Amino acid sequence: MKEYIINGGRMLEGTVDIRGAKNSILPLLAGSILTDEIIVLHDCPHISDVDSMINILEGLGSKIIRKDRDIIVDSSGVCNSQIPSSLAKELRSSIFLLGSLLSRLKKAKVAYPGGCDIGLRPIDIHIAGLRELNIDIQEQGGFIICNSQNAKSADVVLDLPSVGATENLMMSSVFIKGKTVIRNCAKEPEIVDLQKFLNAMGAKIRGAGTSVIVVEGVDKLHGVEYTPIPDRIVAGTYLIATAMCGGNVELRNVNSEHISSLISKLSKTTCKVYVKNDRIIIKSKGRQKSLDCIETMYYPGFPTDLQSQIMAMQTVSRGTSVIVENIFETRFKTASELKKLGADITIKGRVAVVKGVKQLVGSEVIATDLRGGASLVLAGLVADGETIVKDIHHIDRGYEDMSLDLSALGANIRRT
Ligand code: EPZ
Repeated sequence: MKEYIINGGRMLEGTVDIRGAKNSILPLLAGSILTDEIIVLHDCPHISDVDSMINILEGLGSKIIRKDRDIIVDSSGVCNSQIPSSLAKELRSSIFLLGSLLSRLKKAKVAYPGGCDIGLRPIDIHIAGLRELNIDIQEQGGFIICNSQNAKSADVVLDLPSVGATENLMMSSVFIKGKTVIRNCAKEPEIVDLQKFLNAMGAKIRGAGTSVIVVEGVDKLHGVEYTPIPDRIVAGTYLIATAMCGGNVELRNVNSEHISSLISKLSKTTCKVYVKNDRIIIKSKGRQKSLDCIETMYYPGFPTDLQSQIMAMQTVSRGTSVIVENIFETRFKTASELKKLGADITIKGRVAVVKGVKQLVGSEVIATDLRGGASLVLAGLVADGETIVKDIHHIDRGYEDMSLDLSALGANIRRT
Protein backbone atom coordinates (compact mmCIF):
# COMPACT_ATOMS: atom_id res chain seq x y z
CA MET A 1 0.00 0.00 0.00
CA LYS A 2 1.22 3.52 -0.78
CA GLU A 3 2.24 5.90 2.03
CA TYR A 4 3.24 9.50 2.53
CA ILE A 5 6.41 10.07 4.61
CA ILE A 6 6.40 13.59 6.05
CA ASN A 7 8.97 15.45 8.14
CA GLY A 8 7.21 18.43 9.66
CA GLY A 9 8.32 21.96 10.45
CA ARG A 10 8.79 23.52 7.02
CA MET A 11 7.09 26.77 5.97
CA LEU A 12 5.33 26.80 2.58
CA GLU A 13 6.33 29.23 -0.18
CA GLY A 14 5.38 29.33 -3.85
CA THR A 15 2.43 28.84 -6.18
CA VAL A 16 -0.05 26.01 -6.80
CA ASP A 17 -2.26 25.60 -9.89
CA ILE A 18 -5.73 24.34 -8.97
CA ARG A 19 -7.34 21.91 -11.44
CA GLY A 20 -10.94 21.11 -12.35
CA ALA A 21 -13.26 20.15 -9.50
CA LYS A 22 -13.75 16.43 -8.80
CA ASN A 23 -17.34 17.06 -7.68
CA SER A 24 -18.10 18.83 -10.93
CA ILE A 25 -16.28 16.46 -13.32
CA LEU A 26 -18.11 13.40 -11.94
CA PRO A 27 -21.65 14.69 -12.73
CA LEU A 28 -20.40 16.19 -16.04
CA LEU A 29 -19.11 12.73 -17.03
CA ALA A 30 -22.49 11.26 -16.08
CA GLY A 31 -24.13 13.95 -18.25
CA SER A 32 -21.87 13.12 -21.19
CA ILE A 33 -23.98 10.04 -22.04
CA LEU A 34 -27.00 12.30 -22.68
CA THR A 35 -25.73 12.82 -26.25
CA ASP A 36 -24.34 10.52 -28.92
CA GLU A 37 -21.97 13.31 -30.01
CA ILE A 38 -18.45 13.97 -28.71
CA ILE A 39 -17.92 15.61 -25.30
CA VAL A 40 -14.51 17.07 -24.40
CA LEU A 41 -13.74 18.04 -20.78
CA HIS A 42 -10.57 20.08 -20.10
CA ASP A 43 -8.40 20.49 -16.98
CA CYS A 44 -9.45 17.17 -15.41
CA PRO A 45 -6.97 16.05 -12.71
CA HIS A 46 -5.64 12.48 -12.63
CA ILE A 47 -7.58 11.28 -9.57
CA SER A 48 -8.98 7.81 -8.98
CA ASP A 49 -12.65 8.85 -8.61
CA VAL A 50 -12.48 10.13 -12.21
CA ASP A 51 -10.77 6.89 -13.30
CA SER A 52 -13.58 4.90 -11.64
CA MET A 53 -16.27 6.95 -13.36
CA ILE A 54 -14.49 6.45 -16.71
CA ASN A 55 -14.46 2.66 -16.07
CA ILE A 56 -18.20 2.74 -15.38
CA LEU A 57 -18.95 4.74 -18.56
CA GLU A 58 -16.82 2.34 -20.64
CA GLY A 59 -18.83 -0.51 -19.10
CA LEU A 60 -21.99 1.19 -20.44
CA GLY A 61 -20.49 1.37 -23.94
CA SER A 62 -18.80 4.81 -23.99
CA LYS A 63 -15.43 5.16 -25.72
CA ILE A 64 -13.14 7.42 -23.69
CA ILE A 65 -9.70 8.83 -24.44
CA ARG A 66 -7.57 10.73 -21.90
CA LYS A 67 -4.98 13.14 -23.29
CA ASP A 68 -3.09 14.67 -20.36
CA ARG A 69 -5.89 16.53 -18.54
CA ASP A 70 -8.43 16.35 -21.41
CA ILE A 71 -11.13 13.67 -21.37
CA ILE A 72 -12.80 12.90 -24.72
CA VAL A 73 -16.06 10.95 -24.46
CA ASP A 74 -17.89 9.26 -27.36
CA SER A 75 -21.13 7.84 -25.99
CA SER A 76 -22.69 6.97 -29.37
CA GLY A 77 -22.28 3.30 -28.48
CA VAL A 78 -23.95 3.44 -25.05
CA CYS A 79 -26.31 0.47 -24.89
CA ASN A 80 -25.82 -1.20 -21.51
CA SER A 81 -28.12 0.13 -18.80
CA GLN A 82 -26.62 -1.84 -15.91
CA ILE A 83 -23.81 -0.70 -13.61
CA PRO A 84 -22.03 -3.71 -12.09
CA SER A 85 -22.05 -3.72 -8.30
CA SER A 86 -18.24 -3.95 -8.16
CA LEU A 87 -17.95 -0.52 -9.80
CA ALA A 88 -21.04 1.02 -8.16
CA LYS A 89 -19.74 0.09 -4.72
CA GLU A 90 -16.42 1.78 -5.50
CA LEU A 91 -17.95 5.09 -6.37
CA ARG A 92 -20.91 6.79 -4.73
CA SER A 93 -21.23 9.15 -7.69
CA SER A 94 -22.35 6.18 -9.79
CA ILE A 95 -25.80 6.93 -8.34
CA PHE A 96 -26.23 10.03 -10.49
CA LEU A 97 -25.70 7.92 -13.56
CA LEU A 98 -29.25 6.80 -12.78
CA GLY A 99 -30.65 10.05 -14.07
CA SER A 100 -28.58 10.20 -17.26
CA LEU A 101 -29.12 6.48 -18.04
CA LEU A 102 -32.89 6.89 -17.62
CA SER A 103 -32.87 9.87 -19.97
CA ARG A 104 -30.68 8.10 -22.54
CA LEU A 105 -31.93 4.47 -22.43
CA LYS A 106 -35.22 4.85 -20.51
CA LYS A 107 -34.05 2.16 -18.07
CA ALA A 108 -31.28 1.58 -15.53
CA LYS A 109 -30.06 -1.05 -13.09
CA VAL A 110 -27.62 0.26 -10.46
CA ALA A 111 -26.29 -1.41 -7.33
CA TYR A 112 -26.58 0.52 -4.06
CA PRO A 113 -23.61 2.91 -4.23
CA GLY A 114 -20.41 2.86 -2.17
CA GLY A 115 -18.22 5.89 -1.50
CA CYS A 116 -16.42 7.34 1.51
CA ASP A 117 -16.85 5.88 4.96
CA ILE A 118 -18.45 9.06 6.35
CA GLY A 119 -21.95 7.94 7.10
CA LEU A 120 -24.98 6.04 5.89
CA ARG A 121 -25.11 7.95 2.57
CA PRO A 122 -28.72 6.84 1.80
CA ILE A 123 -30.35 7.51 -1.56
CA ASP A 124 -33.98 7.82 -0.41
CA ILE A 125 -34.19 11.42 -1.68
CA HIS A 126 -32.95 10.38 -5.13
CA ILE A 127 -35.55 7.57 -5.27
CA ALA A 128 -38.43 9.74 -3.97
CA GLY A 129 -37.64 12.48 -6.52
CA LEU A 130 -37.44 10.06 -9.46
CA ARG A 131 -40.76 8.48 -8.43
CA GLU A 132 -42.31 11.97 -8.45
CA LEU A 133 -41.38 12.02 -12.17
CA ASN A 134 -43.49 8.85 -12.55
CA ILE A 135 -40.33 6.74 -13.03
CA ASP A 136 -40.91 3.13 -12.04
CA ILE A 137 -38.35 2.04 -9.43
CA GLN A 138 -38.02 -1.45 -7.94
CA GLU A 139 -35.46 -2.30 -5.26
CA GLN A 140 -34.33 -5.93 -5.59
CA GLY A 141 -31.39 -7.75 -4.02
CA GLY A 142 -29.17 -4.72 -3.53
CA PHE A 143 -30.06 -3.33 -6.97
CA ILE A 144 -32.22 -0.39 -7.99
CA ILE A 145 -34.12 -1.24 -11.20
CA CYS A 146 -35.74 1.71 -12.96
CA ASN A 147 -37.87 2.33 -16.01
CA SER A 148 -38.71 5.81 -17.30
CA GLN A 149 -40.91 4.94 -20.32
CA ASN A 150 -43.82 6.80 -18.68
CA ALA A 151 -41.84 9.60 -17.06
CA LYS A 152 -43.78 12.86 -16.71
CA SER A 153 -42.74 16.39 -15.75
CA ALA A 154 -43.63 17.30 -12.17
CA ASP A 155 -43.10 19.73 -9.32
CA VAL A 156 -40.65 17.91 -7.02
CA VAL A 157 -39.72 18.99 -3.48
CA LEU A 158 -36.54 17.45 -2.00
CA ASP A 159 -36.69 16.59 1.72
CA LEU A 160 -33.20 18.07 2.05
CA PRO A 161 -30.90 19.90 -0.39
CA SER A 162 -28.95 16.81 -1.50
CA VAL A 163 -26.22 17.59 -4.09
CA GLY A 164 -26.46 14.20 -5.78
CA ALA A 165 -30.25 14.10 -5.78
CA THR A 166 -30.41 17.60 -7.32
CA GLU A 167 -27.97 16.52 -10.06
CA ASN A 168 -29.83 13.25 -10.64
CA LEU A 169 -33.17 15.02 -11.07
CA MET A 170 -31.68 17.64 -13.42
CA MET A 171 -30.32 14.88 -15.67
CA SER A 172 -33.39 12.64 -15.50
CA SER A 173 -35.72 15.47 -16.62
CA VAL A 174 -33.77 17.03 -19.54
CA PHE A 175 -35.86 15.14 -22.15
CA ILE A 176 -39.19 15.01 -20.25
CA LYS A 177 -41.77 17.11 -22.16
CA GLY A 178 -43.00 20.16 -20.31
CA LYS A 179 -41.61 21.90 -17.25
CA THR A 180 -40.11 20.03 -14.29
CA VAL A 181 -39.60 22.10 -11.14
CA ILE A 182 -37.14 20.89 -8.47
CA ARG A 183 -37.48 22.66 -5.09
CA ASN A 184 -35.24 22.72 -2.00
CA CYS A 185 -32.27 22.10 -4.32
CA ALA A 186 -28.63 22.10 -3.30
CA LYS A 187 -26.96 25.40 -4.31
CA GLU A 188 -23.34 24.19 -4.59
CA PRO A 189 -21.20 25.73 -7.40
CA GLU A 190 -21.00 22.24 -8.94
CA ILE A 191 -24.77 22.35 -9.52
CA VAL A 192 -24.39 25.68 -11.37
CA ASP A 193 -21.55 24.12 -13.38
CA LEU A 194 -23.75 21.15 -14.35
CA GLN A 195 -26.54 23.53 -15.50
CA LYS A 196 -24.04 25.52 -17.60
CA PHE A 197 -22.66 22.30 -19.13
CA LEU A 198 -26.10 20.82 -19.95
CA ASN A 199 -27.34 24.15 -21.39
CA ALA A 200 -24.19 24.32 -23.54
CA MET A 201 -25.32 20.90 -24.86
CA GLY A 202 -28.74 22.39 -25.69
CA ALA A 203 -30.71 21.79 -22.50
CA LYS A 204 -33.10 24.40 -21.09
CA ILE A 205 -32.38 24.60 -17.35
CA ARG A 206 -32.49 27.65 -15.09
CA GLY A 207 -32.25 28.46 -11.40
CA ALA A 208 -29.13 26.45 -10.42
CA GLY A 209 -27.49 28.14 -7.43
CA THR A 210 -30.91 28.92 -5.98
CA SER A 211 -33.28 26.51 -4.21
CA VAL A 212 -35.59 26.21 -7.25
CA ILE A 213 -34.42 24.73 -10.58
CA VAL A 214 -36.70 24.61 -13.64
CA VAL A 215 -35.99 22.10 -16.43
CA GLU A 216 -37.85 22.43 -19.75
CA GLY A 217 -37.69 19.19 -21.74
CA VAL A 218 -35.88 19.25 -25.12
CA ASP A 219 -35.65 16.53 -27.79
CA LYS A 220 -31.92 15.96 -27.87
CA LEU A 221 -28.55 17.28 -26.69
CA HIS A 222 -25.41 17.84 -28.81
CA GLY A 223 -21.70 17.53 -28.09
CA VAL A 224 -19.67 20.29 -26.45
CA GLU A 225 -16.18 21.20 -25.21
CA TYR A 226 -16.22 22.32 -21.57
CA THR A 227 -13.88 23.35 -18.74
CA PRO A 228 -15.21 22.56 -15.24
CA ILE A 229 -14.89 25.02 -12.34
CA PRO A 230 -11.72 24.82 -10.22
CA ASP A 231 -11.74 22.47 -7.23
CA ARG A 232 -12.75 24.66 -4.25
CA ILE A 233 -11.98 21.84 -1.77
CA VAL A 234 -8.43 21.28 -3.04
CA ALA A 235 -7.91 25.07 -2.96
CA GLY A 236 -9.28 25.23 0.59
CA THR A 237 -7.05 22.34 1.66
CA TYR A 238 -3.91 24.22 0.54
CA LEU A 239 -5.06 27.49 2.15
CA ILE A 240 -5.44 25.65 5.46
CA ALA A 241 -2.06 23.92 4.99
CA THR A 242 -0.39 27.33 4.62
CA ALA A 243 -2.29 28.76 7.59
CA MET A 244 -0.90 25.88 9.69
CA CYS A 245 2.68 25.77 8.40
CA GLY A 246 3.23 29.50 8.00
CA GLY A 247 4.57 31.01 4.78
CA ASN A 248 3.40 32.75 1.63
CA VAL A 249 1.47 30.79 -1.00
CA GLU A 250 -0.38 31.85 -4.13
CA LEU A 251 -3.15 29.65 -5.52
CA ARG A 252 -3.85 30.11 -9.26
CA ASN A 253 -7.10 29.27 -11.05
CA VAL A 254 -9.47 29.54 -8.09
CA ASN A 255 -12.89 31.11 -7.66
CA SER A 256 -12.64 32.78 -4.24
CA GLU A 257 -16.44 33.16 -4.09
CA HIS A 258 -16.73 29.36 -3.91
CA ILE A 259 -14.76 29.27 -0.64
CA SER A 260 -15.87 32.60 0.87
CA SER A 261 -16.90 30.81 4.08
CA LEU A 262 -13.34 29.50 4.61
CA ILE A 263 -11.73 32.82 3.65
CA SER A 264 -13.91 34.61 6.19
CA LYS A 265 -12.85 32.09 8.90
CA LEU A 266 -9.15 32.47 8.03
CA SER A 267 -9.49 36.26 8.16
CA LYS A 268 -10.40 35.87 11.85
CA THR A 269 -6.90 34.45 12.47
CA THR A 270 -3.57 36.26 12.01
CA CYS A 271 -3.43 34.99 8.40
CA LYS A 272 -3.66 37.57 5.64
CA VAL A 273 -5.70 36.45 2.63
CA TYR A 274 -5.72 38.52 -0.59
CA VAL A 275 -7.95 37.81 -3.60
CA LYS A 276 -6.83 39.00 -7.05
CA ASN A 277 -9.10 37.82 -9.92
CA ASP A 278 -8.59 34.03 -10.14
CA ARG A 279 -5.72 34.03 -7.61
CA ILE A 280 -5.69 33.82 -3.83
CA ILE A 281 -2.58 34.75 -1.84
CA ILE A 282 -2.28 33.70 1.79
CA LYS A 283 0.41 34.89 4.17
CA SER A 284 0.71 33.26 7.59
CA LYS A 285 3.18 33.25 10.42
CA GLY A 286 3.20 32.06 14.01
CA ARG A 287 0.60 30.03 15.88
CA GLN A 288 -2.98 30.91 14.97
CA LYS A 289 -5.68 31.74 17.50
CA SER A 290 -8.37 29.03 17.68
CA LEU A 291 -11.63 29.63 15.79
CA ASP A 292 -14.36 29.58 18.45
CA CYS A 293 -16.95 27.61 16.48
CA ILE A 294 -17.14 26.05 13.02
CA GLU A 295 -20.48 24.58 11.86
CA THR A 296 -20.65 22.73 8.53
CA MET A 297 -23.70 23.78 6.52
CA TYR A 298 -25.11 23.43 3.03
CA TYR A 299 -23.55 25.84 0.53
CA PRO A 300 -22.78 28.71 0.93
CA GLY A 301 -22.14 27.69 4.54
CA PHE A 302 -18.85 26.14 5.68
CA PRO A 303 -18.31 23.01 3.52
CA THR A 304 -18.34 19.60 5.21
CA ASP A 305 -15.54 18.62 2.78
CA LEU A 306 -13.19 21.05 4.58
CA GLN A 307 -14.20 20.02 8.11
CA SER A 308 -11.42 17.45 8.66
CA GLN A 309 -8.83 19.88 7.31
CA ILE A 310 -9.93 22.79 9.56
CA MET A 311 -9.96 20.35 12.47
CA ALA A 312 -6.28 19.58 11.81
CA MET A 313 -5.62 23.33 11.88
CA GLN A 314 -7.42 23.74 15.20
CA THR A 315 -5.35 20.94 16.84
CA VAL A 316 -2.32 23.29 16.91
CA SER A 317 -4.14 26.63 17.33
CA ARG A 318 -4.03 28.66 20.52
CA GLY A 319 -7.25 28.05 22.51
CA THR A 320 -10.29 25.81 22.11
CA SER A 321 -12.47 25.30 19.05
CA VAL A 322 -15.92 23.68 18.76
CA ILE A 323 -16.64 21.96 15.42
CA VAL A 324 -20.19 20.87 14.56
CA GLU A 325 -20.69 18.47 11.62
CA ASN A 326 -24.29 19.03 10.47
CA ILE A 327 -24.18 17.21 7.13
CA PHE A 328 -22.81 13.69 7.72
CA GLU A 329 -23.38 11.69 10.86
CA THR A 330 -19.90 10.13 11.18
CA ARG A 331 -17.38 12.50 9.65
CA PHE A 332 -15.06 12.66 12.68
CA LYS A 333 -13.28 9.33 12.01
CA THR A 334 -9.96 11.06 11.41
CA ALA A 335 -9.99 12.54 14.94
CA SER A 336 -8.74 9.26 16.44
CA GLU A 337 -5.80 9.33 14.00
CA LEU A 338 -5.07 12.99 14.79
CA LYS A 339 -4.96 12.02 18.49
CA LYS A 340 -2.14 9.57 17.70
CA LEU A 341 -0.14 12.70 16.75
CA GLY A 342 -0.91 14.26 20.14
CA ALA A 343 -4.08 16.21 19.29
CA ASP A 344 -6.53 16.92 22.12
CA ILE A 345 -10.00 16.24 20.63
CA THR A 346 -13.21 15.22 22.42
CA ILE A 347 -16.07 13.93 20.26
CA LYS A 348 -19.70 14.02 21.41
CA GLY A 349 -21.98 12.91 18.55
CA ARG A 350 -21.83 15.63 15.89
CA VAL A 351 -19.74 17.95 18.09
CA ALA A 352 -15.92 17.91 18.37
CA VAL A 353 -14.12 20.01 20.99
CA VAL A 354 -10.51 20.67 19.93
CA LYS A 355 -8.07 22.04 22.50
CA GLY A 356 -5.03 23.42 20.66
CA VAL A 357 -1.65 21.96 21.66
CA LYS A 358 1.73 23.66 21.15
CA GLN A 359 3.17 20.85 19.09
CA LEU A 360 2.04 17.63 17.45
CA VAL A 361 4.52 14.73 17.40
CA GLY A 362 5.07 12.62 14.28
CA SER A 363 3.72 9.06 14.28
CA GLU A 364 2.21 6.41 12.00
CA VAL A 365 -1.44 7.17 11.09
CA ILE A 366 -3.99 5.66 8.71
CA ALA A 367 -6.20 7.58 6.28
CA THR A 368 -9.84 6.60 6.88
CA ASP A 369 -11.48 8.57 4.05
CA LEU A 370 -10.62 11.13 1.38
CA ARG A 371 -10.75 14.40 3.35
CA GLY A 372 -9.76 12.74 6.63
CA GLY A 373 -6.62 11.52 4.89
CA ALA A 374 -5.86 15.05 3.66
CA SER A 375 -6.19 16.32 7.25
CA LEU A 376 -3.55 13.80 8.40
CA VAL A 377 -1.12 15.10 5.75
CA LEU A 378 -1.72 18.65 6.98
CA ALA A 379 -1.09 17.55 10.59
CA GLY A 380 2.11 15.78 9.50
CA LEU A 381 3.37 19.01 7.90
CA VAL A 382 3.45 20.68 11.35
CA ALA A 383 4.22 17.65 13.55
CA ASP A 384 7.67 17.36 15.10
CA GLY A 385 9.64 14.56 13.43
CA GLU A 386 8.41 11.94 10.95
CA THR A 387 4.77 11.15 10.20
CA ILE A 388 3.78 8.21 8.03
CA VAL A 389 0.30 8.40 6.50
CA LYS A 390 -0.85 4.96 5.34
CA ASP A 391 -3.73 3.92 3.01
CA ILE A 392 -3.30 7.04 0.91
CA HIS A 393 -5.40 5.52 -1.89
CA HIS A 394 -8.26 7.31 -0.10
CA ILE A 395 -6.48 10.63 -0.70
CA ASP A 396 -5.76 9.76 -4.35
CA ARG A 397 -9.53 9.73 -4.93
CA GLY A 398 -9.65 13.53 -4.83
CA TYR A 399 -6.09 14.90 -5.02
CA GLU A 400 -3.51 14.46 -7.77
CA ASP A 401 -0.42 13.48 -5.81
CA MET A 402 -0.52 15.87 -2.80
CA SER A 403 3.20 15.28 -2.24
CA LEU A 404 4.05 16.89 -5.61
CA ASP A 405 2.12 20.10 -4.85
CA LEU A 406 3.33 20.31 -1.25
CA SER A 407 7.00 19.49 -1.93
CA ALA A 408 6.96 22.15 -4.67
CA LEU A 409 6.00 24.54 -1.85
CA GLY A 410 8.95 23.40 0.25
CA ALA A 411 7.35 20.70 2.41
CA ASN A 412 9.42 17.62 3.26
CA ILE A 413 7.00 14.98 1.98
CA ARG A 414 7.46 11.99 -0.29
CA ARG A 415 5.30 9.15 -1.57
CA THR A 416 6.55 5.58 -1.16
C1 EPZ B 1 -21.73 15.38 -2.55
O1 EPZ B 1 -22.05 14.11 -2.03
C2 EPZ B 1 -20.21 15.39 -2.66
N1 EPZ B 1 -19.77 14.35 -3.59
C3 EPZ B 1 -19.59 15.17 -1.28
O2 EPZ B 1 -18.17 15.28 -1.43
C4 EPZ B 1 -20.07 16.29 -0.34
O3 EPZ B 1 -19.57 16.04 0.94
C5 EPZ B 1 -21.61 16.29 -0.31
O4 EPZ B 1 -22.13 16.43 -1.65
C6 EPZ B 1 -22.16 17.43 0.54
O5 EPZ B 1 -21.70 18.64 0.04
C7 EPZ B 1 -19.88 14.57 -4.91
O6 EPZ B 1 -20.35 15.61 -5.36
C8 EPZ B 1 -19.40 13.46 -5.82
P1 EPZ B 1 -25.59 14.87 -0.39
P2 EPZ B 1 -23.61 13.61 -2.00
O7 EPZ B 1 -26.53 14.01 -1.15
O8 EPZ B 1 -24.32 14.10 -3.20
C9 EPZ B 1 -28.07 12.94 3.11
C10 EPZ B 1 -15.92 14.61 -1.16
O9 EPZ B 1 -15.19 14.52 -0.16
N2 EPZ B 1 -28.84 12.28 2.04
O10 EPZ B 1 -25.64 16.35 -0.57
O11 EPZ B 1 -23.59 12.16 -1.71
C11 EPZ B 1 -26.65 12.39 3.19
O12 EPZ B 1 -26.63 11.22 4.00
C12 EPZ B 1 -17.35 14.11 -1.11
O13 EPZ B 1 -15.57 15.11 -2.27
C13 EPZ B 1 -29.98 11.56 2.40
O14 EPZ B 1 -30.35 11.46 3.57
O15 EPZ B 1 -24.10 14.40 -0.70
C14 EPZ B 1 -25.92 13.54 3.84
O16 EPZ B 1 -26.14 13.48 5.24
C15 EPZ B 1 -17.69 13.50 0.24
N3 EPZ B 1 -30.68 10.93 1.41
C16 EPZ B 1 -26.64 14.78 3.27
O17 EPZ B 1 -27.88 14.31 2.76
C17 EPZ B 1 -30.31 11.01 0.09
O18 EPZ B 1 -31.01 10.43 -0.79
C18 EPZ B 1 -25.88 15.45 2.14
O19 EPZ B 1 -25.69 14.47 1.16
C19 EPZ B 1 -29.14 11.74 -0.25
C20 EPZ B 1 -28.43 12.38 0.75
